This record gives sequence, structure tokens and C-alpha cells, in this order.
Amino acid sequence: MENTIVIGAQWGDEGKAKITDLLAREADIIVRYQGGCNAGHTVVNDGKTFKFHLIPSGILYKNKLCFIGAGTVIYPSVLCQEIEDLKKDNIDLSGLKISPLASITMPYHIDIDGYSEDTAKGSAKIGTTKKGIGPTYTDKVSRHGIKVQDLYDIDGLSKKLDNILPLKNKELAHVYGLKTYTKQEILDYCKKYADALAPYICNDWQEIFHNAIKNKSTILFEGAQGVMLDVDWGTYPYVTSSNPVAGGAFTGSGFGPNVVNEVIGVSKAYITRVGEGPFATELTDEVGEKIRNIGHEFGTTTGRPRRTGWFDAVVAKYGVLVSGLTSMAVTKLDVFDTFDEIKVCVAYKDKRDGKIFEYYPTNVNIHEFLEPVYETHAGWKTDITGIRKYEDLPENAKKYLNRLEQLMGVKISIISVGPDRHQTIFR
Ligand code: GDP
Ligand code: IMO
Ligand code: MG
Repeated sequence: MENTIVIGAQWGDEGKAKITDLLAREADIIVRYQGGCNAGHTVVNDGKTFKFHLIPSGILYKNKLCFIGAGTVIYPSVLCQEIEDLKKDNIDLSGLKISPLASITMPYHIDIDGYSEDTAKGSAKIGTTKKGIGPTYTDKVSRHGIKVQDLYDIDGLSKKLDNILPLKNKELAHVYGLKTYTKQEILDYCKKYADALAPYICNDWQEIFHNAIKNKSTILFEGAQGVMLDVDWGTYPYVTSSNPVAGGAFTGSGFGPNVVNEVIGVSKAYITRVGEGPFATELTDEVGEKIRNIGHEFGTTTGRPRRTGWFDAVVAKYGVLVSGLTSMAVTKLDVFDTFDEIKVCVAYKDKRDGKIFEYYPTNVNIHEFLEPVYETHAGWKTDITGIRKYEDLPENAKKYLNRLEQLMGVKISIISVGPDRHQTIFR
């Protein structure tokens, strides 16, 4: 296998973890490079379901290095819980490595995210996962963040907190009307998790990465969220606070672009979105409900019902561009097994003047005036969950996939027809 980045090409939950787990079999190193425990990544292996938030989806194999990269934000209690759950399942965690440069989510980040979400009204509501993602990244960028390495330098951390905490407490009390924190409370929080995470902190990552390049190790990058939730390229402000696009793999991992040969985008055969923001092909009728029920479209992290809609080729084409996708993995094709017809959005039309958009309009304010231009495909009305060869797919399923390839401008290299590892067609 080539060194590969796997990213979400829609609004998250595309099935990235299933694809990462499959490819990880042939990888030596798997790196999660951005996001935090807002992610919910599901891997189903021989009927057993694993849900990852921060730990790379390659952890189920033995003898792989699984890195949580510098571009991630770590909410320690969730990561510790994830570690404990995997230990209970007898999963070998000796390959788990945490970057000393990753950012730590503090209790006040959770408080601020929760407060902002609960009090936001109308278009100000983002529908975040309330895992402190935005506030943690905000502090990182404003240089008030705490990094993993700070947990192991208590004197340095204490001095840092002398600068950060008075400001943070002012913000908590006077901007949000929230509880403040003493330095001791924060130090205790940091010490508690420093001990729990100590076995996994990777201070010799430079040597490991140098050797990996020298020895031509196979490296797999696992994105969280998706292109359309990217803070620079997504439907801003209805986005997350990191860079799920392929570029994030370099800023967030410690490897440069020269090591990567393939970028696989993952898309569902339809689209889902959790949280607020434009979603041109959203179906609020019984068809959307049918997709939600058959596809079990409820959030892995929050349990929220996911919004559902038809495949949007304008979105897919946008992802191909901004992430340099070399191919697409299409998941959940089986969800359409009972559908008479399937629609695909090929462009948007402005209801005001009939103007056609073939490329994604990045100003979210105009989306209320846009409607999708659809073409309709006949369904295949057969159970495809047992199919393992492309040739064996029903003709109408092949026609649908061929049309998607044509519209997106890249080939579909992987087709997923069920949640299990084995329910996959490689081309
Ligand atoms: P991720 O965040 O991109 O890793 O995706 P999630 O794990 O949040 O959501 C994908 C869901 O779809 C999970 O429950 C998977 O087990 C499931 N899934 C993945 N691929 C398929 C597929 O081809 N068919 C069906 N029916 N389910 C799938
Ligand atoms: P995976 O990796 C789907 C969405 C939230 C919200 C927005 C901002 O499983 O695909 P945040 O908590 O990040 O500040 O929320 O982003 N969101 C996701 N949606 N899948 C995810 O992760 C998501 N992570 C965040 O619902 O709309
Ligand atoms: Mg998910």
C-alpha cells in the first residue's frame, strides 16, 4: 500500500474509521492528525463494534504504531476512558503514542463550549458536540493553550497558569458568568491525567518518524470530521475548529507532504450532517427518515439524529479539489437496496434568477436561495450486502457509481456494502 491519507469528503461520519481499519492492515504507522473527541469512529470487526474518539482506528491490529498527533486536542477524561475500554477488550495498546505537542482540553473549555451552545440563538447556533473543541483550539491559536508536554513540567505549567488563569477567570466570570478555577484545581487536573497518560507519551517521535521514512514504512493518516466541516474550507461558521482536509495531515502529524502518495476521500452514497449549517440536498420528508432508519443515522458521539439527504456531487467535486483526492471510497451503498429511485445533485440553481452553480458557493448566506438540480437513477432493489466483487453488483448500482465517478472526476477505489470489515469491495 502507498502512504495514504483517509479523509471525510462530506460533513463527517462518512465511514472513515471502517476504511482506515481496513487499510491499516497493511500500514506500519497510523496517525490521527486533527480534531478531538468530537469524532466518533466506528469499526465493526467480526460482529464486534468498537467506537473510537481519539485513538486511531488501526489499534485493533497488533504491532502497529498508532499516533495521536500534534494537531489534535485531547480531552483527557475521554481518552483515559477509551484506553480503559480497550484494555477491557484485551486490545494491545503497546503501539499507542501521544504527541507531546497535542493540546489539552481544560475543564473551562468544556464549560465555555457548553454555555455557548446552550445560550446561542438562531443562526448563532452551531450545534457543536460540546466537547470543548472550539475553545481549546481558540486558546491554542491565541497562545494560551496547554500542551501535553506541559503536564510533565509542573514548574513550567505553574508559571504558564500564572499568566493564563487570571485572564481565563475574568473571561469565565465576566463574559460567560461561569465558575472560575483556582490554580490548584487546574494543577490537580493536569497531574491526575499526566499519570494516566504517561505510558503513551512519545518524546522520541522525531527518531521514530526519521526511521519510518528511511525504512520506507507504510504510513496511514486518519482524518476526523470532513472537508465541509473544515475551519478554512467548510461551511463557515458551521464548521469544526480544525483542518480535516488533507493538508491538515501535514500540519497535524509531523510528516511532510512528500511522504504521501494517495488521498482517499470517504463519502456515503448519500449525505448526512449533524448540527447546524447549510445542507442543500437535505430531505426532511419520509425519504430522509427512511435513509436515517436504514442507515442507523444517529451520532456516535452525541446520539443526535443525523440530518440526511441525497448525494451532492458539487460537494464531492469540491472535496476532490481542496484535498487533492486521488480516489473516493463510497460507503453505505447497501442503504439504498430497497429504494425505487435515487437522486444525485449535479448543480445548484438560484431560485431568484435561475443562475446555475456547478462549483460550491462558499458564502453560506446565499444557500437559502439555492435549490439542488437533481438527476434521478433507478434503484437496484436487491440485497447487495453479501457482494464482494464489483462485477457482481447489480447493473443499476454500477451505473450509479459510474455516474458519481464521472461527476466527481476521480475513480471510486473502495465500495462499502455493510459495516463489517468484510463487507467491502476493492477495485
Ligand atoms: P466516521 O466518523 O467517518 O468513522 O463514521 P461513523 O463511525 O461515525 O459512522 C459510520 C457508521 O456507518 C458506523 O456506524 C459504521 O459502522 C457504519 N457503516 C460504515 N460503512 C457502512 C456500510 O457500507 N454500510 C452500512 N450499512 N453501514 C456502514
Ligand atoms: P467524525 O470524525 C460529524 C460537527 C458538530 C458541529 C460542528 C462543530 O465522527 O466524522 P465541534 O464539537 O467540532 O466544535 O462541532 O462539527 N462535528 C461532527 N459531525 N462527525 C464528526 O466527527 C464531527 N465532529 C464535529 O456536529 O456541527
Ligand atoms: Mg463519526
